Amino acid sequence: MAKKILLIGSANMDLSMNMLRIPEAGETLLDDGGVAYLPGGKGANAAVALTRLGGHCVFCTKLGADLHGQKLYSYYKDRGLDTSFVKVDHEYPTGLAVVMKEASGENRIILYPGANNMLTAENVQEAFACNPDAVYLGFEIPFAVTVSAARLAAARGIPIFVDAAPASEEHPLESLPPMEIFSPNETETKTYTGIVPFGTEGCLRASLNLCRRVKCKHLVIKLGSRGAFIYDGKHYDMIPAFRADKVVDTTAAGDAFTAAMTLRYLENGGDIKDAVRYGSAAGALAVSKKGAGDSVPTREEVLAFLARNPI
Ligand code: RIB
Repeated sequence: MAKKILLIGSANMDLSMNMLRIPEAGETLLDDGGVAYLPGGKGANAAVALTRLGGHCVFCTKLGADLHGQKLYSYYKDRGLDTSFVKVDHEYPTGLAVVMKEASGENRIILYPGANNMLTAENVQEAFACNPDAVYLGFEIPFAVTVSAARLAAARGIPIFVDAAPASEEHPLESLPPMEIFSPNETETKTYTGIVPFGTEGCLRASLNLCRRVKCKHLVIKLGSRGAFIYDGKHYDMIPAFRADKVVDTTAAGDAFTAAMTLRYLENGGDIKDAVRYGSAAGALAVSKKGAGDSVPTREEVLAFLARNPI
């Protein structure tokens, strides 16, 4: 039976713009590289990924009562997400992310959270009625709501998975209860620890620093094309990245990675190395497609990629 994962997180419409380069301060740049509104949001991208990869994802989020909200709601329905706990706020608009994509494939994102900030602890509490096998959390909603969700999960003995994005120095990470996996990327690790996770020594120093604040069974630092660093409080390992067939758009690659890793970990009895490799394959596939939510691969695509790229 498919694992039921309650994902409590953000939903955004992405205003996605392609450009040769980001403008300098005070500069106006004309670039007709293309622009589109695409479904996004770190929470929603991971929810779509979990569903495409074969999980049963119950998505708890908050949309605005506007056209973007309506479009996103239909999109979630079309993609097979369980939308029983998708709420609507009547005051604030749906979250909007401006995603600036340079020709190199790198992106910069600025987010107006809108209705995401209106998700409440009561909304979250209601969603636990779905009796999930696991709870998946991110930081694009109020941090206090994430903490309340984590505490509800911990009180019920439900395993917790955290994609630690986006990061803020202000986040009181110590207030999160013990979890299975805590996974920041390179930039987020630097924000939380002040340490650049470069090379084994840098990664280990950052891990030791983070693990003084976060109680997790596994810390997984996503390092993009350099792979992922895993640490369990005693042992560490560097899992190399797969080479992507092509790099078209890196938006949501991290979301796809963490979602795929989480689902695999739940399915394989907690084999973290296998789960990280699976997540890494999902990330490599996501960068080869345009967009956010729709760039995440299916289970069949990840398995075929792994078969083409044996260890
Ligand atoms: O991780 C990518 C996502 O970050 C985008 O889809 C955007 O909405 C921001 O939340």
